[in-house]
Amino acid sequence: MRCCYHGWLYDTTGQCIEFPLEPKVSRQQQDLRLKSYPLQALGGLLFAYMGPDPQKAPLLPRWDVLVREDGKREVKVFPDHHCNWLQIQENTADSTHTFYLHGIMDRELGLNHPFAAYYRRPIESMEFGFCEWGLDKTIVYGGDVPETEIRPPMIFPNILRIPNGPVEVMHWRVPIDDENTRILFVAFTPVNNGSVRTPEDAVIPFEYVPVMKTPDGEYDLQSFFSQDQMAQETQGVIYDRSNENLGTSDRGIVMYRRMLQEQIERVEQGKDPTVAVVRDPAKNRMIDFPNITSPADAIELIRAKEKAA
Ligand SMILES: [Fe+2]
Repeated sequence: MRCCYHGWLYDTTGQCIEFPLEPKVSRQQQDLRLKSYPLQALGGLLFAYMGPDPQKAPLLPRWDVLVREDGKREVKVFPDHHCNWLQIQENTADSTHTFYLHGIMDRELGLNHPFAAYYRRPIESMEFGFCEWGLDKTIVYGGDVPETEIRPPMIFPNILRIPNGPVEVMHWRVPIDDENTRILFVAFTPVNNGSVRTPEDAVIPFEYVPVMKTPDGEYDLQSFFSQDQMAQETQGVIYDRSNENLGTSDRGIVMYRRMLQEQIERVEQGKDPTVAVVRDPAKNRMIDFPNITSPADAIELIRAKEKAA
């Protein structure tokens, strides 16, 4: 990697190996080394292992969204969020926010997002459970189109996995620092007739999603992304959890925080984390979630009912 400022060149271990424009390289410069991390490319993203000992690194999980080849993949970089990453991740353990923040707000603003009616159904109950990837989530909807929705798990520590109709999506919430977070989005759209194939090592072009705000700096609230960004950032840059009122529907958030605390303690004690750590190559051919119920069928049903009415 060559520095774009003065052209100094570094090898993969972080050792500086070229000093252009330096007439005489000093001993001190020859020893110049940056901290480096082993990298792997998968599904259009680069993953760095930043743990304590690269020799003992677990496998890079091969999520279906990254390695499926029977369709097309796209990568998007969302506008940076000016808040701590944990606020964004807690949103994924917060199953009920989809009712008001997305379902009701869509109706109030007259947006007609294709999935809003799906989320606007009355929630009768919900379940959370610890699983090997993080948290399992199930929601029972009542009303005209009742359904038990098994959502993909919240993947520990920082991933959202969600179907958008037929499109399978993952968001990585990557901390830039304590106060800023970058969201990397990968979507995989299956193409059933096999006419499009995207190898896992394909170079995927990426796109920056424009800032989702009005010219005067207000949240535009026109998409689920913007609605979520508003809810996540307006908690404050680092949300003060010492002064919050948790409800029964925050059970998933409490379970997630407990999991995070336990895993931090394990790592501090020099132990391996136990959640979403893959070490068995046989298990890592492809990690998918065949039990999830996709919203696509329910959305069709809801549309048919709306038409009939
Ligand atoms: Fe949301």
